[in-house]
Amino acid sequence: MLKRKPQAGAEASFVAMALADLDAVMDIEQRVYTHPWSRASFADVLESGYAVQLLKAGDTLLGYFVVMEGVDEAHLLNIALAPEYQRQGWAPLMLDAVAIWARARAADWLWLEVRSGNTRAQAVYRRRGFEPVARRTGYYAAGRCQREDAVVMRLAL
Ligand SMILES: CC(C)(COP(=O)(O)OP(=O)(O)OC[C@H]1O[C@@H](n2cnc3c(N)ncnc32)[C@H](O)[C@@H]1OP(=O)(O)O)[C@@H](O)C(=O)NCCC(=O)NCCS
Repeated sequence: MLKRKPQAGAEASFVAMALADLDAVMDIEQRVYTHPWSRASFADVLESGYAVQLLKAGDTLLGYFVVMEGVDEAHLLNIALAPEYQRQGWAPLMLDAVAIWARARAADWLWLEVRSGNTRAQAVYRRRGFEPVARRTGYYAAGRCQREDAVVMRLAL
């Protein structure tokens, strides 16, 4: 995958996703996941009031995260970077943004689930201070009639 740097001088920022961003988000979602969320899933989370934040550099979408507020905790439901912007150090900054979002809502813990086979994401989470605390057997669909475990991880805020 060809690595890209955002255009020089383009200001990077997090902005709330709007329905108009759906095509750009789906383009990344479908390129990075074997089992991507549907357009309807993103429309639902927007409708439900979950936070969907886009990481943009100028007009370019680098990635996004979806986070849900709970009681004293927050749940990271999705986080992704376009393949051409992976392995450039954006992920820890995105996780910081998630933690700041959660902390500002008085969450004590940030939780997430990750496919047991997604060892790369698990390593990124561990480096940012998440710890694995449980395993959910057969939590994810994984190809024809197959299931994959989820690793539950949490970060103290
Ligand atoms: C999960 C995800 C967001 C993490 O992003 P990432 O870019 O891979 O994460 P990092 O920025 O921490 O980079 C990871 C690797 O790049 C390296 N790296 C980080 N910054 C770098 C830089 N400036 N230059 C060169 N390499 C760098 C890291 O050392 C690390 O290397 P390693 O994997 O060999 O240990 C991304 O992989 C992704 O979108 N995956 C698909 C969707 C997904 O699985 N989401 C999680 C669902 S739970």
